[in-house]
Amino acid sequence: MAIISSKQPSEPSKPAKQQKNKSQPQPVAEDLLQPQATVEEQGKQEQSLRPHTFADYIGQKDLKEVLTISIQAAKARGETLDHLLLYGPPGLGKTTMALILAGEMGVDCKITSAPALERPRDIMGLLVSLKPGDILFIDEIHRLSRMAEEILYPAMEDYRLDITIGKGASAKTRSITLPKYTLVGATTRAGALSSPLRDRFGSVQRLRFYEPEELRQIVLRTAELLQTPISDDGALELAKRSRGTPRIANRLLKRVRDYAEVKAAGTITQDVAATALELYQVDPCGLDWTDRKMLSVTIEQFNGGPVGIETLAAATGEDIQTIEEVYEPYLMQIGYLQRTPRGRVATTAAYKHLGLKPPNEQLSLLSQSDL
Ligand code: ADE
Repeated sequence: MAIISSKQPSEPSKPAKQQKNKSQPQPVAEDLLQPQATVEEQGKQEQSLRPHTFADYIGQKDLKEVLTISIQAAKARGETLDHLLLYGPPGLGKTTMALILAGEMGVDCKITSAPALERPRDIMGLLVSLKPGDILFIDEIHRLSRMAEEILYPAMEDYRLDITIGKGASAKTRSITLPKYTLVGATTRAGALSSPLRDRFGSVQRLRFYEPEELRQIVLRTAELLQTPISDDGALELAKRSRGTPRIANRLLKRVRDYAEVKAAGTITQDVAATALELYQVDPCGLDWTDRKMLSVTIEQFNGGPVGIETLAAATGEDIQTIEEVYEPYLMQIGYLQRTPRGRVATTAAYKHLGLKPPNEQLSLLSQSDL
């Protein structure tokens, strides 16, 4: 299976870490917990650490099962896979999933990202280069330009590329028949896709955050590939601080490996992992400065909420999109934040994590002292 990447966007398209309001106090730690891939993580070494088959892929059990059935059915009928939309927070393995699909189908996968498809000829060039059965992977598909989207509609539905030659009254339209292929779109914001585009995907599937046990297995697998000695509880310590995200788990593993080699005997034990991650300011639940600030503002300034997203954005210096796509999903997943129609509310677990007394306990203490 060949992997052919088209040009990547020159600007990293992640929401807003770079747009942080500089007047805000900045976290001291580097962004070890940000889920978007760094430039280094888009490189060759990183790709060699990825699982290449479903048998090697840990987690996302339901999704693997659904896709395995689709693959077997398509192969038995000698057909291509339906177009597939994968959505979920960044870093959970959407690209890896597309590459595995291609591997299991025995076809090539061309990888691109919507911001790299600025001009009509970018997407046309990719479409005409596809061979029968190939997978075209478009990351951040919610960011496609209107023009690129309109080229995609007939290309998805009828495997047809409509090309307009010339301009104005003398313009002519030619159609090229494309081979049957599979478009795999990936997005962190399924709701941001236009409905005509969303409706053209035969299957829409969500990737979920990983459980600590799944991340522990991922860390052990990567450590083996990197020939890094690590204990089971060392791997679990890393897993618990990785925000349910394999990309973060593997990044923390590499950083803790450095620490273990320089400051310890080389093996990552639980103690070594915990000490190193404390040094790197990664909290025991994987929260960073922004998560903690969101919770403390909600609790201390708004009595636990509800508080509006704009207020949280202003307090942290993050933009609303990053809060909605990166911070909130994880805080909700671990049960620290709830989204209500009137705003965000901190849970009892969030109070406890910050070492604060939850309001119901304050009330019960009050009523006891009143007796
Ligand atoms: N590395 C990154 N994600 C992985 C996964 N889901 N399974 C195995 N190794 C991984």
